[in-house]
Amino acid sequence: MTHKLYIKTFGCQMNEYDSDKISEILHAKDKIERTELPEEANIILFNTCSVREKAQEKVFSDLGRVKHLKTKNPEVIIGVGGCVASQEGKNIIKRAPYVDLVFGPQTLHRLPEMISRKLATNKPQVDLEFPEVEKFDALPKPQKKGPTAFVSVMEGCSKYCSFCVVPYTRGTEFSRPVESILIEIGNLMKMGVKEVTLLGQNVNAYHDEKYNMDFSSLLELISEIDDLLRIRFTTSHPKEFTARLLDTFEKIPKITNQLHLPVQSGSDKILAAMKRGYTAIEYKSIIRKLRSSRPNISITSDFIVGFPGEQDSDFEKTMDLINDVKFDGAFSFTYSDRPGTPASSITEKIDEQVKLLRLRKLQNQIKIFATDYNRQLLHKNVAVLVEGQSKKDPNQLMGRTDCNRVVNFSGEKNKIGKLVNLKITKIMANSLKGELI
Ligand code: SAM
Ligand code: F3S
Repeated sequence: MTHKLYIKTFGCQMNEYDSDKISEILHAKDKIERTELPEEANIILFNTCSVREKAQEKVFSDLGRVKHLKTKNPEVIIGVGGCVASQEGKNIIKRAPYVDLVFGPQTLHRLPEMISRKLATNKPQVDLEFPEVEKFDALPKPQKKGPTAFVSVMEGCSKYCSFCVVPYTRGTEFSRPVESILIEIGNLMKMGVKEVTLLGQNVNAYHDEKYNMDFSSLLELISEIDDLLRIRFTTSHPKEFTARLLDTFEKIPKITNQLHLPVQSGSDKILAAMKRGYTAIEYKSIIRKLRSSRPNISITSDFIVGFPGEQDSDFEKTMDLINDVKFDGAFSFTYSDRPGTPASSITEKIDEQVKLLRLRKLQNQIKIFATDYNRQLLHKNVAVLVEGQSKKDPNQLMGRTDCNRVVNFSGEKNKIGKLVNLKITKIMANSLKGELI
């Protein structure tokens, strides 16, 4: 019998990366293939996110939706991984007793053994340790389709922002050894990858102890790989966005023309209560310096509205910051209390309706700046790395600009994996249209 794996991924790119690693580990061990249909699968996994309450509750409703598959076939294995697993641990099995496996972000490489133990003992298996080095050592060679790939360079977070669960669920910052990163990039390039996105909660906190190498040095090293065309990275933290990193941006053209730099708020009072470690002026100063070497750089960010104690005047400071910086994209959220975080015990909570009104106002403004940014690309010639067929129209190809805009255009499939020059002919809400020059 062929075994099939269904994984549903919630949350960030780190989780998407982990889900790909889970399928590579299970494929390397038992030739288990991935399926998009839970009904077809013998192993059903949920790779979860607990950054906001809604995401967490969604896991339990999704678990309820696959319960009947296990009633029909008791041999089906159901597992929960990621941040909800870290946070809830054994409680998941109490709340959903048909769950067989609970594994954290750092123990996904132990899944084959956990599955074997479950089959041998018929007892649920829980493994939520943080053996970081072991995880990277245990990863098999990547199976990659397409010219772009994620590569994790560091895990966890030691910033302890007062609203955030990540340091508790993913552990403190840990940098992957540089050799291991270079081997993974080398393997990906053998499979045709031309662009890598370096991943981590705070990539600019990267530090390889053996070689005393920081994130700038890592970028320099990776940029020397001849056939690698582009380097992206996410997420950076403003507190560690050093002058050295600004110089690196200036001198390495392979680093793409975009930066995602979460600011969260424009009010110094709220930034201090969030324990972000910078002021609005310090944030703006980073952007100003960056734009002096890269005037057209795309700047995107994360925002939280309705943090406890956020007055109208604080929110207006966030809007002022948005109007100053002119962010051309953002992930924005209403504040959500997370259990065990310092912010959850601040009593001055903001009314949900007020939070939603602020969110809408913020999102509308960002949309205007995003459209302005796209508009300046109209009729311009841009270089696009062709990633594959367009999702909406398989007769079209899809690629991304240096500044991370999706462009759809007509072209032969042999252009996939190549850098092509396009003229932008149309601007749409979430993508652009272009034609080959
Ligand atoms: N490493 C990133 C940084 O430098 O800020 C943040 C990673 S966090 C997983 C992703 C985003 O989720 C945050 O930037 C923040 O905007 C949002 N977030 C985290 N905790 C939240 C909470 N309790 N309520 C609402 N949004 C939250
Ligand atoms: Fe969370 Fe702040 Fe780290 S938002 S991931 S604790 S930088």
